[in-house]
Formats: sequence, C-alpha cells, structure tokens
Amino acid sequence: MAYGLLKGKRGIITGALNEQSIAWQVAELAHAEGASFVLSNAPVAMRMGEIEKLATATGAKIIPADATNDTDLGSLFTGATETLGGPLDFVLHSIGMSPNVRKGRKYDDLNYEWYKQTLDVSAMSFHRMLQTAHKQDSLAQGASVVALSYIAAQRVFPDYGDMADAKALLESIGRSWGYRLGKEKGVRVNTVSQSPTMTTAGAGIKGFDGFFGFAQEMSPLGNAPAIDCARYCISLFSDLTKYVTMQNLFHDGGFSTTGVTPEVMAHFMKEE
Ligand SMILES: NC(=O)c1ccc[n+]([C@@H]2O[C@H](COP(=O)([O-])OP(=O)(O)OC[C@H]3O[C@@H](n4cnc5c(N)ncnc54)[C@H](O)[C@@H]3O)[C@@H](O)[C@H]2O)c1
Repeated sequence: MAYGLLKGKRGIITGALNEQSIAWQVAELAHAEGASFVLSNAPVAMRMGEIEKLATATGAKIIPADATNDTDLGSLFTGATETLGGPLDFVLHSIGMSPNVRKGRKYDDLNYEWYKQTLDVSAMSFHRMLQTAHKQDSLAQGASVVALSYIAAQRVFPDYGDMADAKALLESIGRSWGYRLGKEKGVRVNTVSQSPTMTTAGAGIKGFDGFFGFAQEMSPLGNAPAIDCARYCISLFSDLTKYVTMQNLFHDGGFSTTGVTPEVMAHFMKEE
C-alpha cells in the first residue's frame, strides 16, 4: 500500500545491482510513493544490464558513476538536478565492496592496497558524495541522506574483515556531515544498520549462512528483510522524520540489544 510519502520529491538512488539489492527495493518503493529519481551504479555494474529493467519500471534515468571518482560524482549530481528539474530531497548511499573479503584475505593478513579500496568504495565514497552535493549546492532545504551500515562497526564479527572498519568510518562520516548540513540547510544525514540480508554483497562474506542464521535466532523479530529496510529508508526520506539526524539507526529485528535467546541457548544445552 502506498501513502504518497515522497510525492514531488527528487532523489538519487545508488547501488541497485539486481532484484536482491536493498537499493532496488528502495527504488521500487520510492517510485510507488511518488518520487522521481536518478539511478546510479558503477560503470562496471551497468554491464550486467539488470538496472535497465528497474529504470524502465520506475521511469528513472540512469547516470553511471564510480563512487570513488570525483569527476563521475560531479556529473551524477549535476545530471540529477538537471534531469529532475531542481535540487534533491533525498540520496541513498547503498555501496559496499571489499577486495580483501572477496579474495578471502583475513584481518591479520590484509593487502593494504585492497584495504584502501575497501575504505574508498565503502566509506570515503559517502564523504565524496556529500562533499560534491555540498559544493554544487545540490541538496534541497530539509533533504534526507541515508547510507547503509552493519553492526560490525560496533561489535566484532571476525569474517566481516576490513568492512568493519569501513562501516565505522561510514557512520562517523554520517555524523560529521549531518552536523554541518543540518546547520546549513536543515539536511538530515543518517545511517541504517541493517540485518544480514541475502544480496550479492551479503553473500560475498565467508560463512554468510552462519551469520544469517545466528542473527535470525538472536533477533526477537527475526532478520529484517530487504523490503522492510527499504520501507524504513522511505520513512527517513519522508517528512515524517524531519528531526532525525546524525543517528546510526538499527534496523535489525532487535538483534543489537538482545543478550541471548532460548533458540541460541538450545545449541549449547546438554540433553537431559
Ligand atoms: N546484505 C547485507 O547483509 C547487508 C547488511 C547490512 C548492510 N549492508 C549494506 O547495504 C549496502 C547495499 O548492499 P546490498 O546488500 O544491497 O548488496 P549489493 O551487492 O546489491 O549492493 C552493493 C552495491 O555497491 C555497488 N558498488 C560497488 N562498488 C562501487 C563503486 N566503486 N561505485 C559505485 N557503486 C559501487 C555495487 O555495484 C552494488 O550495486 C552496502 O553498503 C552493504 O554493505 C548489507
């Protein structure tokens, strides 16, 4: 059911790779809620061709941009405001990638060139996007910016590797920009810390099934699906959350504040 929550709003949605992508679900819902937006992803992701389907279904233009490239990001923000006919009311950063995780390099054996890439793609890109938007004055008064994070920023999940450091940086960048943009233009900046989700990025983590199953049993509501993450993002883009900013918001079915559950205990109980 749609509520017209984003009627008349303009935005940029990054990171929709395929139907499983959290950003894909955000785009479909944003469209249903009345928004117009530009879709963006790395040029290499375009080759997979799936984003075209989403663009057609949502009436969106695609502007490719490598989120580590300032020239690309400049063109993305200029292109989006021109295409959409005004400043942006919302931006979704849904970008993450670690060459170390992909290639199985553990935290005590990192390749530092790859580590830099992890931080650049997964965190600094958020700073780059906001700095570009700020310099170009592309954000509307009261706009809302959301980036997706994971609880490995606060707690140790050994197989999440250097992505944990990237998420900690991402969340800090959200706060730092949230302060500045809030003062200047009433812009909100938040990160949403999402449950493990079966997507291309998620499945790239070693032992993801274990991660997923553990979180499922540790969360009173169960793991939050991608579609519900999208609903939460839409609420943050809407005018219903005008005073929420500089927060890392857990969207995790209660995982982050649960100590233990009978389901998890059962794995350790001696049979009587
Ligand atoms: N899947 C999970 O379990 C989970 C949990 C919490 C947070 N997240 C976060 O959600 C976000 C979206 O991931 P997802 O799970 O939807 O997976 P996904 O693989 O569908 O999305 C990741 C996206 O990042 C894009 N990307 C990679 N390098 C890029 C670059 N240089 N420039 C521009 N885009 C680039 C990819 O093309 C892809 O579209 C990520 O930040 C991820 O860390 C995912």
